[in-house]
Amino acid sequence: MNHKALSACVLAAFAAGAAAGATAAPEVEVLHYWTSGGEARSVAELKKSLTAKGVTWKDFAVAGGSGENASTALKARVISGSAPSAAQVKGPAIQEWGKEGVLANIDAVAVAEKWDSLLPPTVAAIMKYKGNYVAAPVNVHRVNWLWVNPAVLKKAGATAPATMDEFFAAADKIKAAGMIAVAHGGMPWQDTTIFESVALGVGGPEFYKKALVQLDQAALTGPVMLKTFDALGRIKTYIDRDAAGRDWNLATAMVINGKAGMQFMGDWAKGEFAAAGKKPGVDYLCLPAPGTAKAYTFNIDSMLMFKKAKAEDQKSQLLLASAIMSPEFQEVFNLNKGSIPVRSGVSKAKFDSCALQSMADLESSSKSGALVPSLSASMAVGTAAQGAIMDVIARFMNSKMSSQDAVAALAKAAKTK
Ligand code: GAL
Repeated sequence: MNHKALSACVLAAFAAGAAAGATAAPEVEVLHYWTSGGEARSVAELKKSLTAKGVTWKDFAVAGGSGENASTALKARVISGSAPSAAQVKGPAIQEWGKEGVLANIDAVAVAEKWDSLLPPTVAAIMKYKGNYVAAPVNVHRVNWLWVNPAVLKKAGATAPATMDEFFAAADKIKAAGMIAVAHGGMPWQDTTIFESVALGVGGPEFYKKALVQLDQAALTGPVMLKTFDALGRIKTYIDRDAAGRDWNLATAMVINGKAGMQFMGDWAKGEFAAAGKKPGVDYLCLPAPGTAKAYTFNIDSMLMFKKAKAEDQKSQLLLASAIMSPEFQEVFNLNKGSIPVRSGVSKAKFDSCALQSMADLESSSKSGALVPSLSASMAVGTAAQGAIMDVIARFMNSKMSSQDAVAALAKAAKTK
C-alpha cells in the first residue's frame, strides 16, 4: 500500500469512528527543536502535510540547538506517563529508548510502504529496534562543512581554504583585516562540531572511526589526537570574546552579514542562508571542512514514535510516519532545511549546488569507507559517553588546558557507560 492509499484508509476509519461518536479528531503531538529561521520553515512543511491529511498538529517545540533541552523535556514527559506521539530523537539514543519499552511499532506503515527498499540498510537499521521500525527518518545532514562569506575573504585578501594550512592562512588574513575569522557559539555541542571536523581533517576517516566511534584507547591517546587538540587550540584564537552561550544560528548570521568570515557547522546552517535569501556560490560558499573533502560526517534526523494507548493516536502516528517518508515531503522539507532526502526516489531538480555536492559526496564516501557518523550530532556513540566527551572538549575550549591534558581527559571520558 502506498502512503496515499494508507492515508485514505486510515481517514476512512476515522470517519467511521466519528460517525459512531467514538473517535476524537486525530492529533499528533510532536516534540522537536527546530526553532531557528530555516528550521521553523522546514517544520511548517511537516505540519502542513499532516493538516492536509486531516490530522491536527500539536506543536511541542523546545528551543536549543542540537536538542539537549528537548531531550530533558522528553524524559520528563515519558517518566510522567504522558509521552508525546513523536519526538526528534536520533542515532544510538533510539536503541536506549527501545530498552525502556516505551516505543511504538510502526511496521504497519513501514512494511506497507516498503521502507526497507527505499532506505540505505545502515539508515534502516538505525530506525529499527529489535527488527521493528520505531522511527521515521527525515533527512541526511552533512556536518563536516565550512560556511564562508566570500566578500569577507575578498576584503581580507584571503582565498577559500581546502586544507588546514590554507584555513589558518585565511583566518590570519581575516583577523588582520579586523574581522572575526571564526563565527562560533560557545556551547559543548558546537565546540564538538569543530573538534570532530578537525579530527577528521587531521587524522582522516580511519582515525575518526577508531577514536570517535569505536572509542579505541590507542587512537584516543595517540599523536594524532594530540595534533587535533593543537589545531583546535589554534582555532580558539580566531573566535571572538562574546561567543559563550551564543546560539549556532546567531553565529551563522555573523557569516551572513559579513561580521565574520567562516563557521564550522552542519548544513542546517544552509537553511539560515536560504531563509535570508542568500545564494550558494554567490553570497556564501559551502566548503568541506579543511582536509575533509573526500569524507562525510552524517547526521540523520528522525521522529521516534512513542507507545500511545488510544487507537486514534496510533493511527495518527502512522500518518505522521507516512507523511515523513513521502517524496513530496522529503523534497520540500530538505530544500528548506539544508539537508538532502534520506530515501530514494526524490527528484534532485530543485536542489542547489551544496545539496548536489552533499549527495555526490555521500555516495562516494559510502563506497570508499569515508562515511562516518557525527559525534556532535549524537550519531556516533551512546549518550553517556557522548556527554562526557563533549564536557572535556568544552573544558578545553574554555580554559588554558593543555593538549596533553585534554587527550588524557578525553580517553578517560570515553570509558563512561
Ligand atoms: C542537529 C539536528 C539538526 C539541527 C541542529 C541544530 O542536531 O540534527 O536538524 O536542528 O541540530 O539544532
